Amino acid sequence: MDQKVRVAVNGYGVIGKRVADAVTLQDDMELVGIADMASDYRIRIAAERGHRVFASDDAARTEMEAAGIPTVGTLDDLLGAVDVVADCAPKKLAAANKARYEAAGVKGIWQGGESHELTGLSFCAQVNYADAINRDWARVVSCNTTALSRTMHALHRQGWVHRVRAVLLRRATDPWESHINGTINTVVPEMKVPSHQGPDVQTMLPDLDITTMAGSGPFNLSHVHFAMVETTRPVSIEELKAALADEPRIAFVRAADGVVAANSVVELMRDMGRPRGDMWEVAVWEDSLSTDGREVYLTLQVDNEAIVVPETIDCIRAMSGIEADAATSIAKTDKSLGITKTFLPATTNPIAQASDSDVSTP
Ligand SMILES: NC(=O)c1ccc[n+]([C@@H]2O[C@H](COP(=O)([O-])OP(=O)(O)OC[C@H]3O[C@@H](n4cnc5c(N)ncnc54)[C@H](O)[C@@H]3O)[C@@H](O)[C@H]2O)c1
Repeated sequence: MDQKVRVAVNGYGVIGKRVADAVTLQDDMELVGIADMASDYRIRIAAERGHRVFASDDAARTEMEAAGIPTVGTLDDLLGAVDVVADCAPKKLAAANKARYEAAGVKGIWQGGESHELTGLSFCAQVNYADAINRDWARVVSCNTTALSRTMHALHRQGWVHRVRAVLLRRATDPWESHINGTINTVVPEMKVPSHQGPDVQTMLPDLDITTMAGSGPFNLSHVHFAMVETTRPVSIEELKAALADEPRIAFVRAADGVVAANSVVELMRDMGRPRGDMWEVAVWEDSLSTDGREVYLTLQVDNEAIVVPETIDCIRAMSGIEADAATSIAKTDKSLGITKTFLPATTNPIAQASDSDVSTP
């Protein structure tokens, strides 16, 4: 294509720094700069990585300069030079940025911490890419909602789902702020049922009958889900495996390989040399897939820090109108990041290998 989509990332935290890196890997996008209001090591590293740093406002710019961080300008300067802004500011605060984006005439993508109503479109690439084409506003759904959307879409598009019940064990806090927030030796159940993820999935799959319950535990890497899916007919394990293998961004892990717990999945990503140990795929335990003829049962792991990154890249592509086809965008994003269907391709059994090169049409 002739011209690259010019992208800003506003909020260089857990999600923003990963989105910024992913944008730089796309040959049809240009990262014009990142904006933030902090001036500690987290923003200094942005400058070290060669990103152009902009301050949220004049006061933040003064503080950044005082901390030795070279700034190019303020967020308003950055907005004047881009087509799309990926807003990765903290949840609930980010919505207030919309007026600035509107005034600047740029398109805006928010993350799952904001409400569906802010943009009117909640996004997961393989579910509703087409709905985002040429739109001005969208919201990439949260990490847990993305994982549920990918896995349940795999079953839903086969016409198998009667109803879904899922239980989510959430990480208590992110590693970078584990010295401030966190939970030790307890589990904190959410009192609200359904937890927000079920209704959130329904913003994209309105006819999916899903109820979620959630709680958080004393760990800071990844969420784990247990899903029970009542099916419209008996679904065999082989059919279930094939449907999951045919869906983008889902990859199997196996207890038989020693991947027996959340920490093993994290270690596997580190051993694979993934940047920051990131896992953009949903990991489904292949040897936990079960059925009693009435329901199928799945156990899966979500890297909350990474899973929404490819979705954000696809959302930029759809909203800017440079790629009309979901499968093409997904394949392009996956190739740039190294997203796979098989984590251990040289030593994995044929079913997973057969689907490795197969990015299906959503
Ligand atoms: N952390 C996760 O696991 C995770 C997963 C999926 C989605 N999300 C969503 O992503 C969004 C960002 O979350 P995060 O975890 O990356 O947050 P974070 O706290 O790690 O990072 C937010 C960054 O934004 C900066 N910031 C604060 N106020 C700002 C403002 N007004 N304008 C610009 N920048 C500002 C902060 O200094 C920080 O660098 C939220 O909507 C969150 O719900 C988070």
